[in-house]
Amino acid sequence: MKYKVLVNKENKIKDNYLSKVNLITTKNVLNEDTLIEEETYNNYLKLKEFIKEKLDLEIGIDTAYRDFSYQQAIYDDYLNKNGKDYCDKYVAEVGYSEHHTGLAIDIEVMIDGEFIYSDDKFNITEPVLKKIHPYLYKFGFILRYPENKENITGYNYEPWHIRYVGEIPAKIIYENNLTLEEYLKDFGCVLYINKPKDVTSYDVVYKISNLFGIKRVGHTGTLDPLATGVMLVCVGKATKIVELLTSEDKEYIAEVKLGIKTDTLDITGEVLEEKEVPSSLNLEEVLNSFKKTYLQEVPVYSAVKVKGKKLYEYARNNIDVELPKKEVTIKEIELLSNNDNTFTFRSLVTKGCYIRSLINDICKSLDTIGTMTSLVRTKQGNIFIEKTNTLEEIESNNYKYYKIEEVLDYPIVDIKEDLLKVISNGVKVSNKWNIKDKVIFTYNDKLLGIYEVSHNNLKVWKNFN
Ligand code: DAL
Ligand code: ZN
Repeated sequence: MKYKVLVNKENKIKDNYLSKVNLITTKNVLNEDTLIEEETYNNYLKLKEFIKEKLDLEIGIDTAYRDFSYQQAIYDDYLNKNGKDYCDKYVAEVGYSEHHTGLAIDIEVMIDGEFIYSDDKFNITEPVLKKIHPYLYKFGFILRYPENKENITGYNYEPWHIRYVGEIPAKIIYENNLTLEEYLKDFGCVLYINKPKDVTSYDVVYKISNLFGIKRVGHTGTLDPLATGVMLVCVGKATKIVELLTSEDKEYIAEVKLGIKTDTLDITGEVLEEKEVPSSLNLEEVLNSFKKTYLQEVPVYSAVKVKGKKLYEYARNNIDVELPKKEVTIKEIELLSNNDNTFTFRSLVTKGCYIRSLINDICKSLDTIGTMTSLVRTKQGNIFIEKTNTLEEIESNNYKYYKIEEVLDYPIVDIKEDLLKVISNGVKVSNKWNIKDKVIFTYNDKLLGIYEVSHNNLKVWKNFN
């Protein structure tokens, strides 16, 4: 998260911050030594080369890292020359400058063979610097103090001050015209991930949280390390709809090996029993008989809690425990292939259904034993696996993220100003739109809240304001 750190008028740089970064020495436009964070510098060099090629412009560094005494000198100089009000719109107080991180650069552009100090010659340099702004994100930089965001950043427009945040946040911030403050506090999106094998659902969440620099990240239905496929991950504000997405139906393709029983009900577990498989099995018939609602026993190797302890903790300590049962519905089930005591099937199931347990139940009905050897979640709600991105695609910033309102299948009402206060505050409104279940309210396409029907009214379900 070190590249997504927030230093602004409210957030002072942490004492230990510099111990996390590697500052290196380079030269500024005056050929003096200046310090800068290493990854920031490497990306700055790429940006510089790109700008030279694309726009035939030469850029240089005015300042990057500043220590406290340097910042103090700049502050005092501005204060004396321009007074406090003006100074506070351009220069951060000591400890509150992004330049202390080594991730910010004030850039200069060469005009007529000369680097001109941007701040002094705003009218000349601004139009030139502006040409660079659309390309910053490609190298992980953002324009930190943009025009018309002064009330959020607390600083006037600075066309020269760029900040390294990493490519993923930079692209989102650019595309959505956000500031770093807005991104870290207000942004929300849903990722459709194809979970790879041998990683836990938590690993995926942890990775996304790091890549996006956002702490609040949640997945919407655990996939065991063995399983792959559709995993919807909610980032930032979208974590408010985790519960809703978790409750959606899920489709799986599972492979079963007969004649073997394991403690975890899948092939990663310890083998408990092996036995000959009966020569003729009514596989199709038995599968079809599972198209029903029934009470399914939760597998002992699961994180479901009983008396405050996770079930797998009982299992690991060899403590007997009564397994809880949960009502699940198998909406669709079909045999896909069957040979050599191995079969695959597709099923569409409701929330909380364990395919391992379903397989165990199927095998009991077949009067044999079996274990799950592979599992792919092919669909969740309306999201098919074809729409997912791999973690590699996300890491290389070649992926799609979805807005909360895009993921949910509810009508969207873009309200007029007269309702803005009411909806923003989550106040009840009459159901004049004749909504049946839930409705998404936006204002100028910005998500405000999700409401649901309550008698003849609509009451707030989740407020996003
Ligand atoms: N000019 C920016 C706000 C700083 O002093 O850090
Ligand atoms: Zn600056």
